[in-house]
Amino acid sequence: MNPLLRNAWQALSRAAESGRGVHLRDLFAADSQRFSRFSVTWNDWLLDYSKQRVTQETMALLGGLWQAADVPGWIARMRAGEPINHTEGRAALHIALRHPTGPIMHAGQDVMPAVHAELDKMRRFAGEIHGRHWRGATGEPISDVVNIGIGGSDLGPRMATQALAAFRHPDIRVHYVANLDGADLATVLATVQPRTTLFVIASKTFTTQETMQNAASARHWLVHALGEAAVARHFVAVSTNLAEVARFGIEPANAFAFWDWVGGRYSLWSAIGLPLVLAVGFDNFRQLLAGAHAMDEHFFAAPPAQNLPGQLALLEIWNSNFLGADNRAVLPYSQSLGLLPRYLQQLEMESNGKQIDRQGQALDCATAPVLWGEAGTNGQHAFYQLIHQGGRQVPCEFIACRRPDFDLPGHHEKLLANCFAQSEALMRGKTLAETTAALAASGMSADQAAFLAPYRSFPGNQPSTTLLLPRLDPHNLGALLALYEHKVFVQSVIWDINPFDQWGVEYGKQLANRLLPVILGTASADQLDSSTAGLVAACRNPPRGGRD
Ligand code: F6P
Repeated sequence: MNPLLRNAWQALSRAAESGRGVHLRDLFAADSQRFSRFSVTWNDWLLDYSKQRVTQETMALLGGLWQAADVPGWIARMRAGEPINHTEGRAALHIALRHPTGPIMHAGQDVMPAVHAELDKMRRFAGEIHGRHWRGATGEPISDVVNIGIGGSDLGPRMATQALAAFRHPDIRVHYVANLDGADLATVLATVQPRTTLFVIASKTFTTQETMQNAASARHWLVHALGEAAVARHFVAVSTNLAEVARFGIEPANAFAFWDWVGGRYSLWSAIGLPLVLAVGFDNFRQLLAGAHAMDEHFFAAPPAQNLPGQLALLEIWNSNFLGADNRAVLPYSQSLGLLPRYLQQLEMESNGKQIDRQGQALDCATAPVLWGEAGTNGQHAFYQLIHQGGRQVPCEFIACRRPDFDLPGHHEKLLANCFAQSEALMRGKTLAETTAALAASGMSADQAAFLAPYRSFPGNQPSTTLLLPRLDPHNLGALLALYEHKVFVQSVIWDINPFDQWGVEYGKQLANRLLPVILGTASADQLDSSTAGLVAACRNPPRGGRD
């Protein structure tokens, strides 16, 4: 940690210590302007963080982290196409994928012509599918698209397809298959016909075991029904590895490219978005890119106090590094954003779940907290009990839209009332005295009220942020996802880690490859630990009394 950053860090530690024991309820009681003091607007968005356990002093100190870590310098490095993914020697230029005009340089070349050429190819292809000009091997138009990919080649388009359900093309159904478990592919194949199905094989590397196995099984299913020649009309691919795509048997004309300077979990904006384009149309995808670009511009220009990604990043650092929270719940009060927590799990935890800094040294602070969540109000009937009374710190991030994307009378106002009520309850809590008085006022005997009051009181002081969007449309969704990408980036800069590699995922992959021959019975289990060897043996020879 550089000396400036260490000083800022120490000042924040002292502020956390002196604020210990201060309740959010008291902060609100002491300041009638708290909401306006601790909320930021951007266009017609509102970020209310007044229910975070912060004071003006805290926010000023957090703003100091931004300067001390040189966030502006790192933004400049990212925009200049420097290899800020230093362990892989790569740039991280996902911002170029939504950049409308003007050069963006990488290794001495402007990447924008290639970006726009690929977007054009996606637009033309979607036009052919939607216009029913692209025909399957038997001459029928395509009605179903099955995207086969995993991680960043699945979560982004899958989440966005659900998020933009209100914008779906009426004639095309898009399905997503990711899991190596054959149940995933088999379940989808049972609902589609070979004659009218298009497979999109999406893999940055085109070597990922899950995707390659699912692609091979899908190919087998199609060839079995329609013959080998049908592959050209029913398979397209998205990858940076066009040689492997060709080896799989997909023609270059049916391959959509992207580049190694696009990280897997930052790739929705590239051709990895193809299934989304097929689901909602190219114009809506363009709007998504425009929304992300608008957030990029905001992020690059706004000072930390007005910077939405910056504020979210700093508030989480405050909660996790200084107040001791080890997790964050993302709670969209939007059914359409139901997959957002899963998408953010990869974006945030695969990016910032690291412990070695850019100098190769072990960090002495925690990095990305565990991220979890679920669409409200469903979560209220599952895990909110723990957030209210479980005794753990769970910083919450509520996301709501002023207007619904499906307008059924009577729903949306109740949804908003629930969202705001939860953040109010988590902030305020309910003291023992308040509960006892309320129970007594309801006619309960003093003894009974005294007995029940501890169970029906709430500690409160649970920090939360509420992000209020005007509505969920492609533009706002694009901006929302770019907001989180930049939030992750700011945190990585302050923690001094590389958010663009993912070495932790590799080790498990290697061990799975080593174990496969043992499970197949072609290699010995001698080198394995007794638990792993025991599990393999139990699969091959079920324990006595089993019903296999
Ligand atoms: O989970 C590891 C990872 O490399 C992700 O970063 C990536 O999104 C995913 O696997 C899929 O990789 P690919 O697109 O190369 O199949």
